[in-house]
Amino acid sequence: MDNRLCASLMDEHRVIEKVLDALECEAGRVEDGTPVDGAFFEHAIAFVREFADGLHHQKEERVLFPSLTEAGLPQEGGPVGVMLIEHDEGRRFVGMMHESLAGAVAGEAAARTQLSMAARGYVVLLRAHIQKEDTVLFPMAENVLDESAHSRVRTGFEEAEGDQPKRDAAHRDWAGRLST
Ligand SMILES: [Fe+2]
Repeated sequence: MDNRLCASLMDEHRVIEKVLDALECEAGRVEDGTPVDGAFFEHAIAFVREFADGLHHQKEERVLFPSLTEAGLPQEGGPVGVMLIEHDEGRRFVGMMHESLAGAVAGEAAARTQLSMAARGYVVLLRAHIQKEDTVLFPMAENVLDESAHSRVRTGFEEAEGDQPKRDAAHRDWAGRLST
């Protein structure tokens, strides 16, 4: 078992990446003129809001990032600030997907374009974001946080994971079943 502090976040990244792959694939289908798979996009939006944003980003924003700031990393301008801005950008893309979905399912050209552009924007943003966290921010967290901060972060993660375990397990299952 991986005992690193951010192992659970990295594991969640692998789940999120499966959904990113599927979103990219579906965005391509929309661009090719295939009717929009409303059920897929609805599920993907719920996944992003509840698993990626509800569980994962909350573990980062409420637990990990504050501990890094307490350990002396700047809140704004530094890597934590950049991650927070990117989380907000992600929420905007998901809002655009949600907003355009009904029209896109009804076949409206402008809504289809908005849906595929927002999906692609989200995919590109999140892949780069995940890469930065995995290779820069998380290793930094292992190094700058002392033992008591480590244990506070671990407890905070466990609390977040205990909040909606059934919902989160269902999202993991769904992501695992996606084919791209
Ligand atoms: Fe993350």
